[in-house]
This record gives sequence, C-alpha cells and structure tokens, in this order.
Amino acid sequence: MSEKFYLTTAIDYVNGAPHIGHAYEKILSDVIIRHKRQLTDKAYMLTGTDEHGIKIQKTAALKGITPKELCDENFSKFEEAWRQLEISYDQIIRTTDEKHKKVVKQIFKKLYENGDIYKHSYKGLYCAGCECFLNSKDLTQDGLCPNHLKKPEEITEENYFFKLTKYKDKIADYIKSHPDFIQPSIRVNEILNQLENIEDISVSRTRNSVQWGIEVEGDDSQTIYVWIDALSNYITAIGYDIENPSAQFKELWPCDVHVIGKDIIKFHAVYWSAILMSLGLPLAHSIFAHGWITIDQSKMSKSLGNVIAPKDILQAFNLEKPDAFRYYMASAALIGKDGNYSDDDFKEKVNADLANNMGNLLNRTLNMLVKYFDGEIKQEFITEKTSKIAIMADNTKNQIIECFNKFEIAEAANLIVNFADTVNKYVTETAPWSLAKEGKMRECAQVLYTVLEAMRYIGIMLYPYCPNIAESILLQLNETPDFKYENLEWGKIKPGKITEKEKIKPVFLRLDSEFAENKKKA
Ligand code: MSP
Repeated sequence: MSEKFYLTTAIDYVNGAPHIGHAYEKILSDVIIRHKRQLTDKAYMLTGTDEHGIKIQKTAALKGITPKELCDENFSKFEEAWRQLEISYDQIIRTTDEKHKKVVKQIFKKLYENGDIYKHSYKGLYCAGCECFLNSKDLTQDGLCPNHLKKPEEITEENYFFKLTKYKDKIADYIKSHPDFIQPSIRVNEILNQLENIEDISVSRTRNSVQWGIEVEGDDSQTIYVWIDALSNYITAIGYDIENPSAQFKELWPCDVHVIGKDIIKFHAVYWSAILMSLGLPLAHSIFAHGWITIDQSKMSKSLGNVIAPKDILQAFNLEKPDAFRYYMASAALIGKDGNYSDDDFKEKVNADLANNMGNLLNRTLNMLVKYFDGEIKQEFITEKTSKIAIMADNTKNQIIECFNKFEIAEAANLIVNFADTVNKYVTETAPWSLAKEGKMRECAQVLYTVLEAMRYIGIMLYPYCPNIAESILLQLNETPDFKYENLEWGKIKPGKITEKEKIKPVFLRLDSEFAENKKKA
C-alpha cells in the first residue's frame, strides 16, 4: 500500500460557471483517485481554476467589476459544484494564489536564463477563445478558429517566445519510447504530426493588451501569457520552487496522470513537456485525454443556449446525492470517445444498471434471507472460493484494476454491470425460492450467501462511482464501509444475524423523469 499516485485535472477558466463538460472531467478524475485510494494511502488529487488572461479581463470589464471580483464569484461556483458532486480533491489551486504567481515568475526567469526564452516581434492570428496564436493552416476553410468558429484577430506585438523547436526531436523520441505517455494511444499520431510543424510559441503579451496576468520580472512592459502560468500549476501547487522544492513535491512529482480534454493535448504533450525538459524535471507518466460531452448530440455552447450546469440536473431529478449522475457521466463514453447527455438516457441507464440490475438483486436476496433464515448467516452457508461466482468476482476485480491502469473508466463500470447481470442469471437459474419450497435449505442458503458476497464485491467496486450507494450496500450487509481492495477476498461475510425485515431498505432509487419534464415545462 505504499506506491504514490498523483493525479491532476485541467484547471478551468473562470469566465463562466461550471457546466457538465467540466463536471465530466472532474468526475472521471475523482473516480480514478477514489479507485487508487482503494489500493494505496498515497493517492493525491489536484484540481483548480485558471484565472488570468484576456477573456477574464474582457468579461469583467463588460460586467463592470474587477477581474479578481469575477474570479472570486465564479471560483465559488466551481467549488460549490465540486462539493455537490463529491469531488474528493486534496487541493484546489487558483492561478491568482500568491504562492503560484511567485513560482511562475521564477520559472519564467529560469527558462530565460537557460536561453529558452527570447524577445521577438511577431505578427499573428490570435484567438481570444483559445488564448493563443493560431497557425493559418489550422483555421477552417472560412478562416475561423476550428474550436470557437470565430475569426482570429491579426495582432502585431513584441513578445517573449519560448524555443519549442529546440525540444521538438526530444519530445518526439520521448513519446515514441513511452507508449503509456499519451492515452488513449490513438492520439499519439495526431501529436507526432503536430510536432512536425511546431514553431516557437509566444509566452507573453504586452501589458497594454493584457493587464490581467502575472508580470514578467524585470520587464514591466510584458505579462506572462496563459500557458506557462496555467501549466505550471501542476508543480507550484505541491511546493515546487527553483531553489528549494518542498518535500511534498519530491514525493509526488513526477505526476502519474494529467487528466485533460482532447482539445488541450498539444499544450500538455508538447508545450508542458518542453517546459519541464528546460527546467530539468521529469515528465508525467501519462496524459489521459478524454472526449467531449455533447447535449442531445449537439456541442454545448452559449449561443445554442444548451449549456447545462451539473446542479440543474441534480435539481431536475430531485437528487440529494450525486451518485446516479456520477455513474452516468463516468460511463458516458469509452476511453477517449465523446459522450452525450440526455435526460431520457440518464434516467434509462441509471434505472437499468443501478436500480433494476443491482438494487433489486440486493433487496430480493436480503428479503429471502429474512424469510427463510431470519436474517442470519450460518457457518455452513459460506461458499467456496472456487465456486463459479466467486471466481468471476475475483476476475472482475482484477480486470477493473487493469482497466483503471489504462484509464478505461466506462469499461470498468461495464464490468461491474456484467458481473451483476451474471449474478442475476445465477439467481434465476438456481431459484432459491424453489429450493426453499423443496426443503433444500442448505442449498438455498448457499445461493443467498453467494449473492450477498457478490453484492459486497459490487459495493466495493462501485464505490469510486457511487460512494453513497456503495456505503448503503455495505451497511445493508451489516459490513463496515471500508472500501479498500484488500477486503475483496471471497468469504468475508461472517456468520451471524445480518439483517431483519425493518432494516431492509432500497439502496438505489429509480429516477423519475416526469419530475424533470414538469420542471422543464414550468
Ligand atoms: N484553462 C484551460 C486548461 C488549462 S490546464 C493547465 C482550459 N479550461 S476550460 O475551462 O476551457 O476547460 C477545462 C477542461 O474542461 C478541459 O480539459 C476541457 O477539455 C474540458 N471541457 C470543456 N468543455 C468540455 C466538454 N463539453 N466536454 C468534456 N470536457 C470539456 O482549457
């Protein structure tokens, strides 16, 4: 239990409130970190907010408030959303934190001293949405930014540039020799192709055009431009300092995974790698690029008016706990693929996978245990580790660990559902109610024990997705809610009375979408 695991998420822009795209990433990350905590005591999750740049400056000006006021207002919305979704981060960093700003200045200075940053006059096409200059060949046929479908501004400025070209070959070699670095691996060629045409990048803007940012030390005409500021959060948060890095930094770095969206892989796989190489620091083990969430199959956008906040969904379905939404989001797409949210699909999937498949299984079995055995397990009920369901339970556990090692979060959820399906079939085939009728009480008891033990496995394996439901499952089984994987050993439910009629409660509530419909109409 000693291997450390350090996970970071992208830090969100705070020029608006969190939507379910942001939530998707934080839920995936939280599911990963909760799973890792089942295996190690040293799992650490960092998330945060990206608070500088022209977009914040402009939005704040439009609202007639200061950029810091805008950041504070929206930061609290992100914090509140993550609290509601039970995102169990260890730390949340804001790029306006003084400690972060101080170390970013040091980093910039160090890169300059290393000869990797130089001043250069530049004319380029700047997209305020991406906060970066675009190459003309990256634009759409109509000359628009492919992400924001807006015409980039032509800007001439004297800026500091970072020598990305110097690191081009080293990064390509690194990517080729580290097959786990970019995940899923289908993204590798895309990055290698982008690397071929890479140019040095602008890493500052004039103070005249961008005031809301970290100053370049010793040159008050320039502001550090977002990517060095933003990417450095992964090390400043845990105490990196050029002269005197903290013990925590030494313990946690290199990071095990940067969880990010597919739109920002280049910044992580190329820009960030080059910055780390210049600083003489090791690169992260993996960058996991998830797909995007669409709403009813359309891209979420303010102009389409289809942006959904996670709290709207919890409210619309009257959910006190986030488990159902977390489960749905985490299983919305296979690794790296885009996923979609729709109210109907949410309701159907959660009802089918959680309420009907797993919920009924637990409920029926506990009721039979009360009916036939007064809620009591006896020594002779305990089934062998070599029984079919016990073997499948252990195989499922091992496959889930493998899935998580490859960041296959939805795939791991499917394994749990498949296992519950098999256990349901086992109940149908063995028909414990008939065994009881025929007086085959020991056989009946063994079937019930097998199902309850399988439910204990399901509870523990489901924990990263649905922490509250998982706890209810274990409590219904009269087990301590300890979700460590070391408890996944067959035969741990011990003899004794585990339940009685009044104690049996449904742990999965079916989602009622009429409620959501009425709400929409209202
Ligand atoms: N601030 C930068 C990231 C800097 S990381 C050093 C940024 N911010 S963002 O707010 O635009 O996006 C934050 C994360 O949310 C990104 O990983 C992005 O891919 C993800 N998503 C934003 N919209 C999304 C969807 N519709 N679906 C899934 N993820 C999406 O980029």
